[in-house]
Formats: sequence, structure tokens, C-alpha cells
Amino acid sequence: MRLQRQTRLLVKLTVVLGSLWLFLLLRRPKAGWDPTYVFRYNWLEYTDDDGGPEKVCNCSAILRGEREAVEKAKILAITKDFHKSVLIPDEYYINATHDCWTFKTSRKYLTFPLSQEEEDFPLAYSLVVHHKVQNFERLLRAIYAPQNYYCVHVDKKSDPSVHSAIRAIVSCLPNVFLVSKAVSVVYSGWPRVQADLNCMSDLINVSTEWKYFINLCGQDFPLKTNLEMVRMLRSLGGGNSLESERMPAEKKWRFSYSYKIADGKIQWSEELKKPPPHNFPILSGNAYIVVNRGYIHSVFEDPRIQDLIEWSKDTYSPDEFLWATIQRIPGVPGSTWPNQKYDMSDVNAIARLVKWVWHEGSEGSLKAVYPECQGNHVRSICVYGAGDLQWLLGNHHLFANKFDADRDPIAIYCMEKYLRRKALAELY
Ligand SMILES: *[C@@H]1O[C@H](CO)[C@@H](O)[C@H](O)[C@H]1NC(C)=O
Ligand SMILES: *[C@@H]1O[C@H](CO)[C@@H](O)[C@H](O)[C@H]1NC(C)=O
Ligand SMILES: *[C@@H]1O[C@H](CO)[C@@H](O)[C@H](O)[C@H]1NC(C)=O
Repeated sequence: MRLQRQTRLLVKLTVVLGSLWLFLLLRRPKAGWDPTYVFRYNWLEYTDDDGGPEKVCNCSAILRGEREAVEKAKILAITKDFHKSVLIPDEYYINATHDCWTFKTSRKYLTFPLSQEEEDFPLAYSLVVHHKVQNFERLLRAIYAPQNYYCVHVDKKSDPSVHSAIRAIVSCLPNVFLVSKAVSVVYSGWPRVQADLNCMSDLINVSTEWKYFINLCGQDFPLKTNLEMVRMLRSLGGGNSLESERMPAEKKWRFSYSYKIADGKIQWSEELKKPPPHNFPILSGNAYIVVNRGYIHSVFEDPRIQDLIEWSKDTYSPDEFLWATIQRIPGVPGSTWPNQKYDMSDVNAIARLVKWVWHEGSEGSLKAVYPECQGNHVRSICVYGAGDLQWLLGNHHLFANKFDADRDPIAIYCMEKYLRRKALAELY
């Protein structure tokens, strides 16, 4: 054990010295050589030299919600030329990853755990994506740490260039892998759950070490550093954190009738379904969860959950009740009792922060849940703009949805810089 630690220390030292050498090679110091700069890991910080055209924005002013900076970003985000200059085509990633070392170094991927605390608490991620490779790569880079595990599910029917680009990126990172069995995801259908299940199964097989499981889609982005996440997860004391609430009557049609998939779409049939197995109360939640390893083991090993899964396969939007229901089954690690007093909303859970259009309102409103979206809406969900960042960072959630480099690349850019700077500052 002690020897192992020493070896790891040696590896880290080698990496640091290697990077130092690289640093000196790449940047002849302009104003003298400042060793503290190097040894404080500042070379891993994102600088204007790494940024695209977004660098004209003042991120610290944006993060403070300063009006002028936010307005400037807003105007830039709707400028056509700016958009064109930010977008990175799939071919770029295929080409840039021919040389993995250069790709990882120039993109400043972390190549060693930033702390012992994080190294001792690895996380497992399932990423279900179907397009927008640039969003995916920026998300992956933001959450990447060598001690974690990442399973990537690319939709079977995605464009070949999306498959190639993501395969190329994944091939450069040893702890990131493609799911062993990809499915064709159907909106609101069972395959969305199957995609996560396939990743869960691969993640269990790939390591016995990881402690918590988090699932993401390509338009999520973290609000916390890896160290902050580790500390928040440890403080859950083995508990899970996900939306799980009483099912509203107006949603019960989703599992009262049988639904079939035909022509790539989910279709209603008149066939009534049997009640759920074991009289489990069906709870309402969403597709995105933060659960401990034991919960995932239960999903594959508990016969009651196997029955529930079989029963759910012909329902509408099972992703929005299955995880929430499992979370209230007695005996599942980290679960809570099915009594309504344990209901947890998406706002109280730490899994995902989403702004729904019908819950927005001005400050001081007696009904609103959050301030108005500063970006724009897609299917009633806010795609965050730079003006949303200050509010986002005031929340306790690990991740927020949706971010989109096609709509507001500045929001992503400022989050990237903020998180990396914070992660490096946490070292001291
Ligand atoms: C960016 O905004 C911050 C906060 O308002 C300010 O202190 C700083 O001088 C600004 N930087 C630039 C380059 O304008
Ligand atoms: C691919 O990379 C090479 C150098 O690594 C570069 O010269 C070339 O322009 C790139 N092609 C594309 C399409 O980006
Ligand atoms: C792990 O892998 C083995 C062999 O590839 C497979 O039979 C088994 O079902 C897998 N286990 C899980 C939990 O997916």
C-alpha cells in the first residue's frame, strides 16, 4: 500500500516535471521565469490563448451578473459571424485526436488526480449523447479526472461523423469507453432507459472501486468541481439524491396503457396495463440521478426491481418514473421510505437544475420557482445564456441542463474557466 502510494507520487512528480518541461518549451517566459507560477499548477488554467472568439467577453463580470458584460455577451451570442467562428466541426476532433498526447495537452485535460481525497472517491458517469460533438467534448473535459469512469452511449442512429468523432475522442482517454451495446433511442420510450442500463452494467463490470453513479446527456454542464462533488456526495452518507415525488393524477395515463414503438416513434395502444408489480407506488421524477453504487447493484440483482423493469418496458416515458420509484423501494441502498413526507423535488435534489418556462417569474413573485431565462427556450426548457450564470452558481445542484454551444457558447466558456480556476485554487 505504502509502496503503491510512493509509486503514484513518483508518477505524479514525473507528470509535473514533464509538464514543466513542456511549459518551458511552449512558452518562452515573457517576463522572467516565475517558478511559483508553474508549481502552483497555473499552467492548467484556461487562458485567452486557449479560448476561441469568446475571449472578448469578461467572464468575471458576467459571473457577477454585471449588466453591461451580460448585455455584450447577449448581443455577441446572436451575431451570425460570431456563431460561425465558434462552431467546431466533427472532422476537427477526428483529425486532432490522431495525436492523443497533443490533443490532451493542448485541451488541458487533467492527467493526474488533483487530490488524494478525489482519488479515494472515484465516480462513475453514463453519458447518453446523439449529436453536437462540441458540447460533448467540452462537457467531458469539464468533468474529466483520471480516477473516474465514463461510459459513453452514442445513439445508434446518429450520423457517422458523430460516431467517428466521439470514438476518436474516447480513444485518447483510457478511463472513458463506449457502451458495449448501443441502442436506438426513442423520445419518451423505453430505449432511453435501456441506454443508461447498458452503461450501468458496463460500469459495474469495469471497476469495483467507484462510489457514486451520475448520468448525463450532452447538454448538461457541471456547476461544481470534482472535489466539491466528492465532498457533497460523501456528506449524503450513502444516500441518493434525485427527484422522487407523488405522481400527479394527470400523468397516470403514462403507465395505465401499453405503448409500443413503431416507425421509430412511441405509439399508444388501447390495451390497459396491469397494476405495477409488488403493489409498488409509482413515483414521479426525471431521467437524471445521483445514486450510490448499491442502488445500481440493486437494479441488476433485486428480483423485485427486475419485475418493475419488465413491467415498465411498454410505458410512456419510463425514465421519468423508474428511478424515482426504485428510490422508494424498501431495502434499496440509499433509498427513502415511500411515505409522502420523504418526497423530494428536483429543486431539492442535487442531481439536476432545470428551468422550466412555467415556473419562471420575476424576483419577489409568490409563485415563481426561479428567475426568468436569460437565454432561450427549447421544448419549454431554458437553454442558459450568460445572464443565467450568476443564478446557476448560487444553487446546490451538481449539474444544470441545458447548455448549448450553438446557442450561447459564452455561457459554457465562462463556466469552463470558472470551474478550472476553482479546481486549481482548491489545491491550496
Ligand atoms: C472585468 O470585470 C471585472 C469585474 O467588473 C473588472 O474588475 C475587470 O477590470 C474587467 N476586466 C477587463 C479586462 O475589462
Ligand atoms: C488536420 O491536422 C493537420 C495537422 O495535424 C492540419 O495540417 C490539417 O489542416 C488538419 N485538417 C483539418 C481538416 O482540420
Ligand atoms: C459483466 O461481464 C460479463 C462478461 O462479459 C457478463 O457476462 C456479465 O453479464 C456482466 N455483468 C454485468 C453486471 O453487466
